[in-house]
Amino acid sequence: MSNTTTPNGMDFNLNEEHLAVQEAARDFATNDLLPGVITRDEEQKFGPELIKKMGELGFLGMMVAPEYGGGGMDTLSYVIAMEEISKIDASASVMMSVNNSLVCWGLETYGDEDQKRKYLTPLATGKVIGAFCLSEPEAGSDATSQHTTAIDAGEHYILNGTKNWITNGNSSSICLVIAHTHPEKAHKGINAFIVEKGTEGFVVGKKEDKMGIRASDTHTLMFSDVKVPKANRIGEDGFGFKFAMSTLNGGRIGIAAQALGIASGAYERSLQYSKERKTFGKPISEHQAIQFKLSEMATRIEAARLLVYKAARLKDQGKDYIKAAAMAKLFASDVAMWVTTEAVQIHGGYGYVKEYHVERHMRDAKITQIYEGTSEIQKLVIAREILK
Ligand code: CAA
Repeated sequence: MSNTTTPNGMDFNLNEEHLAVQEAARDFATNDLLPGVITRDEEQKFGPELIKKMGELGFLGMMVAPEYGGGGMDTLSYVIAMEEISKIDASASVMMSVNNSLVCWGLETYGDEDQKRKYLTPLATGKVIGAFCLSEPEAGSDATSQHTTAIDAGEHYILNGTKNWITNGNSSSICLVIAHTHPEKAHKGINAFIVEKGTEGFVVGKKEDKMGIRASDTHTLMFSDVKVPKANRIGEDGFGFKFAMSTLNGGRIGIAAQALGIASGAYERSLQYSKERKTFGKPISEHQAIQFKLSEMATRIEAARLLVYKAARLKDQGKDYIKAAAMAKLFASDVAMWVTTEAVQIHGGYGYVKEYHVERHMRDAKITQIYEGTSEIQKLVIAREILK
């Protein structure tokens, strides 16, 4: 038993299962992800064999019930695995996060039995990977401003529009697409649909050339008169905006864990480097200037971990976690940006070149302040929660 306790007495009680998940994720990250991580970043390629392995090891459907092929684990196990994988490869962890906390969780929580049997099982077992399609050229933070439309045409809906910055845009087989069915009803006229790749009129567009998480595939997706069966609408008519918001609440815990992992990875590399690199006749870890940096990095990371674990625990206990998830993401993403910048500074000239990994961590950190709700949106969510 390994306990992590917050000052107000919240006890996280990491059990043997949590520790086993941590070890398995660490092994996978070290043995399978670390070799080639720099090349994958440069070439902007992930490789289907790695996605397959993540699926076989159970990292793509961690919280899904075993009856649908998932691992039946709690959210705390999931964030522990996310941290370990993000320490090495944040491109892998964003693919994992979107599949687990947006696509699988959304389907398991709000899908009907037929949808779960048909779509959730292949997603949870890693046979296929999914994408969550909310953002549009003119609907990023302002998610209600959906221009994609799904018009009721009897047996099916006709989907038209464009989605932007879609993680797993090309590698996914199953997409959850948010669209307006009744634009005059504003957010109450939005629905969520399961759309299969290969459906006529569904085209994968431009691949983004990104600053960070470069090995993950981020694409524009286009829908032109795509027929979506009525059976593929998730929930009651008009439930789509609530579906997206509620799914993103949990997604933010996953991204907070990713930010935590990026920070931890950069910190661990800096700690190691500071013991090896000598200046002025001694290891730089013996210089107070470096010690102060390491101390502050470790402290901020520990604080971020407590927020991430707290949000995960609240979700596992069935309690309200909207504010906790937003706080965890807001704080952990700032920690990731700050720690990775300091990691580059500690490494000096070596930090500025790819071989030492920390420049990648710094580039990867930035997106955690942007996707699944920018830091500004997290502040808005927190303010609404504390003021209501
Ligand atoms: N949880 C549950 N319900 C919520 C919610 C939340 N966090 N936030 C809003 N809602 C509900 C409200 O209660 C309201 O419900 P009622 O109709 O019953 O009253 C409804 O949704 C509309 O809410 P608002 O009036 O507050 O809507 P708004 O337009 O003022 O603001 C927002 C909503 C919080 C700003 C929202 O647009 C938002 O979260 N924007 C950010 C979008 C985002 O995170 N995008 C990420 C893209 S996905 C991604 O990045 C994935 C990837 O690939 C990595």
